[in-house]
Amino acid sequence: MARLTVNNQPVEYRLDPETPLLWALRDASNLTGTKYGCGSGDCGACTVDVDGRAVLSCQVAIGRIEGSFVTTIEGLSRERNHPLQLAFLAANVTQCGFCIPGMLMAASVLLNHRPDPSEADIRGAIRNLCRCGVYPRLIEAIQRAGRAARGEET
Ligand code: FES
Repeated sequence: MARLTVNNQPVEYRLDPETPLLWALRDASNLTGTKYGCGSGDCGACTVDVDGRAVLSCQVAIGRIEGSFVTTIEGLSRERNHPLQLAFLAANVTQCGFCIPGMLMAASVLLNHRPDPSEADIRGAIRNLCRCGVYPRLIEAIQRAGRAARGEET
């Protein structure tokens, strides 16, 4: 069992405490925006925000984050109008889209800590794999979202 706050809602998971957060979110909470890619901590598709950090949810047991605040892609913005989501659309980042929720969550954590990231900052923080190779547009979109969040032009 583990108690967490997921997307601002208290949740009590009556699961084995060793259950990976990814499967608690997807199977118990039906938050299927968080994706299963590799299951081994390599791809980043499962990235969520846990207490302000970008966390690979396939690698974290729910029992080890008891009491934590988790934000998934579903919690980023109900209206899907978070500056990052708008910037990803404007920069036409998405191709197949499978990696995008994890990318958005990693980018959200980055912008929360560094509102004006350089390209090097982004490359250092966003280690998520994308088979479509959208990295140049990804960098453009994250910087665009940072400008929008700071009230500058988009
Ligand atoms: Fe978690 Fe790939 S599914 S890192």
